Amino acid sequence: MASSLQLSTPPHFSSKRSSLFADGGLKITRSSKLFLPSKSDVLVCRCVATSSTEKTVYTTKVPRNANIAKLNAGYLFPEISRRRSAHMLKYPDAQVISLGIGDTTEPIPDVITSAMATRSHELSTFEGYSGYGAEQGDKKLRGAIASTYYGDLGIEESDIFISDGAKCDISRLQLVFGANVRIAVQDPTYPAYVDSGVIMGQTGSFQKDVEKYGNIEYMRCNPDNGFFPDLSTVPRTDIIFFCSPNNPTGSAASRKQLTQLVQFAKDNGSIIIYDSAYAMYISDDSPRSIFEIPGAKEVALEISSFSKYAGFTGVRLGWTAIPKELLFSDGLPVAKDFNRIVCTSFNGASNIAQAGGLACLSSEGLKAMGDVVGFYKENTEIIVDTFTSLGFNVYGGKNAPYVWVHFPGRSSWDVFAEILEKTHVVTTPGSGFGPGGEGFVRVSAFGHRENILEASKRLKQLFK
Ligand SMILES: Cc1ncc(COP(=O)(O)O)c(C=O)c1O
Repeated sequence: MASSLQLSTPPHFSSKRSSLFADGGLKITRSSKLFLPSKSDVLVCRCVATSSTEKTVYTTKVPRNANIAKLNAGYLFPEISRRRSAHMLKYPDAQVISLGIGDTTEPIPDVITSAMATRSHELSTFEGYSGYGAEQGDKKLRGAIASTYYGDLGIEESDIFISDGAKCDISRLQLVFGANVRIAVQDPTYPAYVDSGVIMGQTGSFQKDVEKYGNIEYMRCNPDNGFFPDLSTVPRTDIIFFCSPNNPTGSAASRKQLTQLVQFAKDNGSIIIYDSAYAMYISDDSPRSIFEIPGAKEVALEISSFSKYAGFTGVRLGWTAIPKELLFSDGLPVAKDFNRIVCTSFNGASNIAQAGGLACLSSEGLKAMGDVVGFYKENTEIIVDTFTSLGFNVYGGKNAPYVWVHFPGRSSWDVFAEILEKTHVVTTPGSGFGPGGEGFVRVSAFGHRENILEASKRLKQLFK
């Protein structure tokens, strides 16, 4: 039976007070003496509204997941949205330009949406209808991904698992590896690796003094080391998350650096989870895939996505490539366990999205995706030129849609707040990606051209 609700408040009750919602007006007080929630206890709460009117709320007896409770503040991007909304309330007439969250803005090429529309209409016919598909994804799409992105690298159709996006697969991979592994991440990097590790229970608490979670290895990447960690100082971990081109620094690891990384993983018996979500943005001869490095198939798997190539951030389609050669210490294939997790927690990507994915990989689709990527790369050049002309040290941009601007000696959140307040342009504070991002701001090149030009004008006025 659910716990009953006790309406009366014992006289000695208000011994402890905690805030239930981050900034809400509802406060909850709980007796720690009388009502420590043992199995049979009735949990009683007295709520104190700001008006001091007393109310009683019902709480279940279910304890909160202690790992989720460890998470420091909110996830970065919802926090930025919150600040953006507050800014818009303060300046309702301002034309706010968002170069923050990293969401795409340009329409999906017609050759891709037409294929999705056709597939969608087919679903209204007896001949064309299909329900659940294979959890691993459509065979044709798996084959097309294998041949397009891994042509002669020895990755086969059966090594590809289609997903509803790379972020979702990061969490599914965490389920595969479980709570008892130790992870390493680049610092700074995309926050989902750390947050999913915290939720999984792989980490200690957040340590405010160093802005890090316990039991995670943060591999510092900064201008001094060319944004590639000094592996001679990195202790062994089971898992190494490695994102190249990196979000947020925009830097892509070279062939030599990735060769070192693969060797490092091999020496330590570690597994690299390589995130290549921005590989199509690479302009120089940096590898597009970790599997270009000899021996990588024994120590790495790769996640990727159509989000930033085809504007699929809303459509949702990505993939994970797991070579058969990648084995656990007991000799069993990692792909086998990933397949088990996928079959348990996922029923396959949308059939309409997968039709779109196939269209992306047709010759017309590849050209159209190349044009979308090219458009954002032109935006990147405008942003790089803007900050360079203002005398800032600017990184990234060449191989990624992100520009990483240094504001030495300043707090990232302060710079973020100043830019927002004075130009109505939303950026992303570098420290949100890890302590190594402090003093930097990430500027995203995803935006309509007129907004990029307008933002450039306003930034030039602010920092001239
Ligand atoms: C490095 C990186 N990986 C994964 C993702 C998420 O991709 P998806 O939209 O496929 O979930 C992002 C999104 O910004 C990203 O920056």
